[in-house]
Amino acid sequence: MLIRKKLEELNQLHLVQFEKEISDIERNQLYNQINSLDFSYLQSLNQGEKSSESVITPIKAMTISEIQKQRQTFETIGIEALKNQEIGILLLAGGMGTRLGSDKPKGMFNIDKTKNVYIFQRLFENTLEVVKKCGKFIPFFIMTSESNNAETIEFLKEHNYFGYDENYISFFIQDMAPCVDLSGKVLLEEKNKVATSPNGNGGWFNSLLNNKEAHQMLKKHNLKWINVFAVDNVLQQIADPVFIGATLSGGYEVSSKVIRKVDPYEKVGVMCLKNGKPSVVEYIDLTEEMATAVDDNGERLYNFGVILNYLFSIDLLYKIKDKKLPIHIVTKKVNHINEKGEHVKPETPNAHKFEMLCVDMVELASNCLPFEVAREKEFAPIKNKSGVDSVESAQELLEENGYTL
Ligand code: UTP
Repeated sequence: MLIRKKLEELNQLHLVQFEKEISDIERNQLYNQINSLDFSYLQSLNQGEKSSESVITPIKAMTISEIQKQRQTFETIGIEALKNQEIGILLLAGGMGTRLGSDKPKGMFNIDKTKNVYIFQRLFENTLEVVKKCGKFIPFFIMTSESNNAETIEFLKEHNYFGYDENYISFFIQDMAPCVDLSGKVLLEEKNKVATSPNGNGGWFNSLLNNKEAHQMLKKHNLKWINVFAVDNVLQQIADPVFIGATLSGGYEVSSKVIRKVDPYEKVGVMCLKNGKPSVVEYIDLTEEMATAVDDNGERLYNFGVILNYLFSIDLLYKIKDKKLPIHIVTKKVNHINEKGEHVKPETPNAHKFEMLCVDMVELASNCLPFEVAREKEFAPIKNKSGVDSVESAQELLEENGYTL
């Protein structure tokens, strides 16, 4: 009864329209899911466009040549922090990887030419290089989603975590959000199951805290920092001691690896200050004037793009954990059942998904260090099957960096 009342208030009563056709067990499954799902995401459908009153100004990045001058000092500080196990790393692997079009978790994708080279493997191997340097394993969190958790764990176990010590790895599942059709009705995936999708990569800290084992690993090591990174950049340096040293010695709350844009209009979010606070302006919001603005030395003022590799202080994470992040609505194809109970596999985008983004967490910090890295050495994302940011482009970049595939 309570469920019907709740759904009536939400104007989503159709979610139980098949309840008489399903078994008691299935009905319970549906009720439990409805009870635990967060329907507050739906409110963002009615909020419309935010009026943007913000003042955007440039932020100073630490450039490669500036980093070079202090590399040794930064590296020593970083290695020391890693030896003291103050730093944890966190792989965001809950995405659906729709653009790549593989039905497996993205990390399981094989980028081989002549031998097996999995995306996960590249990430573990990169991390193991730092482990070797500092002589200690680094607590490694892996965020998955309900849909890819079992497969991810099984795959990594089967490959013996590519040589990583299992005791330093902790998996946790991110929260899910309901999917709605274009008129705002929540979709059913089955008669006893609401259609859901991972709620973006921005809710990771709360999802980590909600998982007993992951929370324990955080406390056990008394971690002070977490390096968060995306699954798809096969060249990125994880737990990079120089990056860590620069952040720790500068008194920052957060830092972000950034790359110099290839041209003023490259489609990457660039670091900036929004009303004096660190932020990222999406390329779509970058005006022509801002994109081409230069300083006295002719250097572009909005020139450093983010690559989803951040170092967050744990103090900041606890401080901001109850703050609401903006909800982004994306329109995608979502399989569902129609009002007759028939399965539908749409040809065109038919549904809205709700996502919070890690990049929005930066704005909640009082300061941030944009730390420049060489894109040809640290940026080979695999987003698409072919073309830009694809398997082919990543293969080329890996080979240019001396990897045999
Ligand atoms: P992307 O924005 O590339 O999304 O994620 P995606 O789901 O992997 O791929 P598409 O858009 O469907 O093709 C950037 C990073 O954030 C993670 C991804 O796994 C990737 O490491 N992510 C994304 C999550 O962990 N959870 C999410 O809900 C979304």
